Amino acid sequence: MDSSTSCILLMLASFCNMVCFFTTNAQSSSPALFVFGASMLDFGNNIYINSTSNCSVPPYGIDYPGHFHRKAVSRCSNGRNIIDFLVEMLGVPSPKAYLSMSKTRNLPEEFLKGVNFASCSAGILRPTKEGFCIPMDSQIDYYSSVYGTLMEKKGFVQTQRFISNSIFFIDIGNNDILVYNGTGISKYVSLLISTLEGQLKRIYKLGARKFAFMGTEPVGCWPTLRAMNKNTGDCDIEVNQLSVLFNEQAAVLLQKMQSEYADMIYSFFDAYKEFNKYINHPETYGFEEVKAACCGMGFLGVEILCGACDSYCSDRTKYLFWDSWHQTEVAAKLMASAAIDGFPPIVFPINVKQLIGNGLHSQI
Ligand SMILES: *[C@@H]1O[C@H](CO)[C@@H](O)[C@H](O)[C@H]1NC(C)=O
Ligand SMILES: *[C@@H]1O[C@H](CO)[C@@H](O)[C@H](O)[C@H]1NC(C)=O
Ligand SMILES: *[C@@H]1O[C@H](CO)[C@@H](O)[C@H](O)[C@H]1NC(C)=O
Repeated sequence: MDSSTSCILLMLASFCNMVCFFTTNAQSSSPALFVFGASMLDFGNNIYINSTSNCSVPPYGIDYPGHFHRKAVSRCSNGRNIIDFLVEMLGVPSPKAYLSMSKTRNLPEEFLKGVNFASCSAGILRPTKEGFCIPMDSQIDYYSSVYGTLMEKKGFVQTQRFISNSIFFIDIGNNDILVYNGTGISKYVSLLISTLEGQLKRIYKLGARKFAFMGTEPVGCWPTLRAMNKNTGDCDIEVNQLSVLFNEQAAVLLQKMQSEYADMIYSFFDAYKEFNKYINHPETYGFEEVKAACCGMGFLGVEILCGACDSYCSDRTKYLFWDSWHQTEVAAKLMASAAIDGFPPIVFPINVKQLIGNGLHSQI
């Protein structure tokens, strides 16, 4: 055997080693959830920044499974939120709140179960509810540090395989819409979308390949804004227009990113359209009250806020809204199953189930 043949054989052998190595890693890398956004998804990060916007006071979480008497579970809901249901329905590990992990041993292993960075009140723009939350840019900073730890402890190949296989579930923008101050809808949406573009691209550059983006809700129909229309309790039309425009442009942004990055796939969930079905056809979904908050007092339950008082409706399954801003557990369950199994025009071009099943596994 001459030296060039043995060289080729050696190369073949090491190629085989690489293939076997990759295959083993692919099997051990089951998908996890990396969660970014605001209160609909938050698992309690705000407790660690001492924010009063924390959903950690009773009666929040009263219907959370296994919840102990009068101990809140940091869910901005009466019970489970959208991420709790995604975990149950997809059979993936439950990601911990990032700031709750500071004392966790064996961090890289824990990171392989995903991480929840979402923070109640957070927005795309840093000034949105500044001081009360972890803004989107800072959530990505935290993720960058998680990615760095994984790279260091698990190596490039395993990290990139795991991250590219995981679902990056993002729901951000509702709070930016909530604080809109009337300076012109299209200008404001342009600012939101261009900022979001930088944020999503940064997440992509940190290895993410599977994006599940949840659009904004009919924020103008949240009890807090309905109550501004003192006599009628009608929705705020301008705020809803802002939300519709944001969703249109966010969907275009994701499509544009996919055409720029051949290895990126996404699912867009038009939460506005889904949520509007509950408002317009309550009986179809088992709701009897879609305007007033279950928890709280006064007009539409927003004059004395949930948490400041302990007054709440007896049948939470009949209400769309738990408090002035947040949906009830039954609504979160409907939203989660729509994201997972939905179809156009509400969920497109694929849903979360297809996003999970879709194999980019053989590439790095
Ligand atoms: C939050 O409050 C606790 C107790 O007062 C304190 O120990 C901790 O340093 C505070 N954390 C932050 C981020 O301010
Ligand atoms: C959570 O918010 C309540 C007020 O809503 C506040 O009293 C409490 O101190 C906050 N908890 C933390 C850990 O910051
Ligand atoms: C309204 O919001 C814009 C964009 O966030 C900000 O630049 C401007 O200062 C705000 N104006 C007022 C009056 O709050």
